[in-house]
Amino acid sequence: MIKKNWTIEDIPDLQGKIIIVTGGNSGLGLASVKALAAKRAEVIMACRSVQRGNEARKLLLKDQPKAKIKVMELDLSNFWSIRMFAGDFKKDYNQLDILLNNAGVMMTPYTQTKDGVELQQSTNYFGHYALTGLLLDMLAATPGSRVVNVSSLAHKTGTMNFKNLLYEKGRGYTPYKAYSRSKLESLLFTFELQRFFEKNKLDCKALVAHPGVSYTNLFSHAAPKWIRAILLPAVKSFMQPAEMGALPGLRAAVDESAKGADFFGPDGAMQMKGYPVRVTASQHACNKDVARQLWDCSERITGVMFEYTPVLKMEVTSKMVV
Ligand SMILES: NC(=O)c1ccc[n+]([C@@H]2O[C@H](COP(=O)([O-])OP(=O)(O)OC[C@H]3O[C@@H](n4cnc5c(N)ncnc54)[C@H](OP(=O)(O)O)[C@@H]3O)[C@@H](O)[C@H]2O)c1
Repeated sequence: MIKKNWTIEDIPDLQGKIIIVTGGNSGLGLASVKALAAKRAEVIMACRSVQRGNEARKLLLKDQPKAKIKVMELDLSNFWSIRMFAGDFKKDYNQLDILLNNAGVMMTPYTQTKDGVELQQSTNYFGHYALTGLLLDMLAATPGSRVVNVSSLAHKTGTMNFKNLLYEKGRGYTPYKAYSRSKLESLLFTFELQRFFEKNKLDCKALVAHPGVSYTNLFSHAAPKWIRAILLPAVKSFMQPAEMGALPGLRAAVDESAKGADFFGPDGAMQMKGYPVRVTASQHACNKDVARQLWDCSERITGVMFEYTPVLKMEVTSKMVV
């Protein structure tokens, strides 16, 4: 039997769906917004720069004038901005079908955010943890909703160290170690979130994806511009365009056969490029105790608790005496 590759053609009609894509103005996020809006979803590009968001939106609308795309401000490295975004979103919408936690930075020099959190983990993981928690009521109120976290192959080399989780004062920090830790955290979070959904019997799924390797702005901190310019022709053959890199996240977001805790990545050699298929997370990413410990730290660091009180259903039976 010939294997059929999953492509954007497989995205179903999404009319009536409300989707948030963090970092929707660039790279994989932009490719995802384009594909989802083309299938008639209403897409919110959650961007740290409204100007860059509006520029990206304008370009998308040139190709798809009828697309429903809105830009909203969200700085994931700032817990106050995340609270503002969640509040504004709830004023405008009463459903959330898909939360695509895509935004990220890679290999930045050691930086502490205003909230005192190491920048890469704050943007890539803690910000998305907080955003998801603050939007939990919307997700819970939307049947079949999904949270998709974007991780990376780098999660395989990530390690957790709860004694120095945030590389306090830069102790033990290297740009790559912090990046790979943040991507391991995305996986640990996804699996714990799925357990949370199941425990609370919520009609929501948590899924995760990695894009392989796509040449995007993400690499702007990985090496100086002139080195990247020299290396690009050589490394490009190992990379795929953003449109392909976005496919695993898109599949996790919309494939009807996808289950909670599924992990999608490219099917090519070493999962660096190709079409999206189910892939396996590192053993470390599946450790329930570590995931629980990370969740506890996340509550403390972000101040966001996943509070969900199920609505009690009063069952009226014929035996009830009125
Ligand atoms: N490209 C790859 O090969 C690759 C591989 C593995 C994983 N990933 C993951 O894929 C995701 C998307 O990356 P990409 O390759 O598309 O890179 P990109 O082109 O640099 O896009 C990253 C997006 O995240 C946004 N962002 C950064 N910091 C933010 C913050 N504090 N608040 C809100 N948004 C913020 C960026 O906004 P600005 O435009 O304003 O900077 C941009 O829109 C990331 O999570 C990345 O780790 C990518």
